[in-house]
Amino acid sequence: MWQARTIMVNGELMPFAQASVHPLSLGMAYATTVFEGLRAYHHPGRGEFAIFRLAEHMRRLQVGMKLMRFDRIYETDYMRDCLARLIRANAPDDDVYIRLLAYIEGIGLMATTGPVGFTAAAMPREKPKFADTGMSLGVSSWNRLSDNASPPRIKSTANYHNARLTQLQARADGYDGALMLTPQGRVSEAPIACFFMVRDGRLLTPSVTSNILESITRDTILTLYREATGRACEEREIDRSELYFAEEAFVCGTGQEILPVTSIDKLPVGDGKVGPVTAMLRQRYFDVVRGNVPDHPEWRTVV
Ligand SMILES: Cc1ncc(COP(=O)(O)O)c(C=O)c1O
Repeated sequence: MWQARTIMVNGELMPFAQASVHPLSLGMAYATTVFEGLRAYHHPGRGEFAIFRLAEHMRRLQVGMKLMRFDRIYETDYMRDCLARLIRANAPDDDVYIRLLAYIEGIGLMATTGPVGFTAAAMPREKPKFADTGMSLGVSSWNRLSDNASPPRIKSTANYHNARLTQLQARADGYDGALMLTPQGRVSEAPIACFFMVRDGRLLTPSVTSNILESITRDTILTLYREATGRACEEREIDRSELYFAEEAFVCGTGQEILPVTSIDKLPVGDGKVGPVTAMLRQRYFDVVRGNVPDHPEWRTVV
């Protein structure tokens, strides 16, 4: 597997181990950081790398920076050039996972808004565990953050305190992953992924007002499902007890891609095997992100 040797800080390439920020910077001290996880898929036949849905990732990052009142907001064109240079500098020979963090690097008071800096890393990432076998989820006793406290809709590092507590509890309880509920007891999302289920043959996912990150993979799946079946996925509030009626379930995200869920709270989902809707969507997803089919070229930025 190739190795990440070069990292980028504020547009400058440097050896991976040399990147640093001051421990008293606001990004560290007050978690004033927003970030994105992106993937650039390798097409060996064409010898190209295509970043998947870069424009949408940048839009989410930009709104996060705006909401957090950063002094500077990075433009999409500038960041596309930076990421292209970063990928080339690492000379990968397989898929690339990109971590892009924008933060306040200045030292100051809690309400300091600059100077702003960014770090971008291009790394290999192993195939997610559970991709073929499916995973077990446990409903967490930690609630998902709420919008008017620490909005899950922006990808701020601060939100991952909540996600991490949930994941650690799931691990201690013997599950592969967790599912969080809103303070009102509706299904929200997993710590680093969105949730889908099939009930009575229909695909359902929690609405964007269920305290979720507005996931780009979720949006991709909504589109691919509609195109494949002619039907819309239902986006709505989902009660906890509906989980136990599911015939199929999966979680999705850029890093996790699409992972089947085969049990929830130690009860089997459907027959406890990967179901046909999940399998169909995974196939379509990988065909599109990898550029094996000509569909949705607008989602792939070749660098
Ligand atoms: C909390 C949370 N939900 C959902 C997702 C999936 O988002 P996306 O599909 O945009 O990667 C992530 C991934 O980063 C996440 O951290």
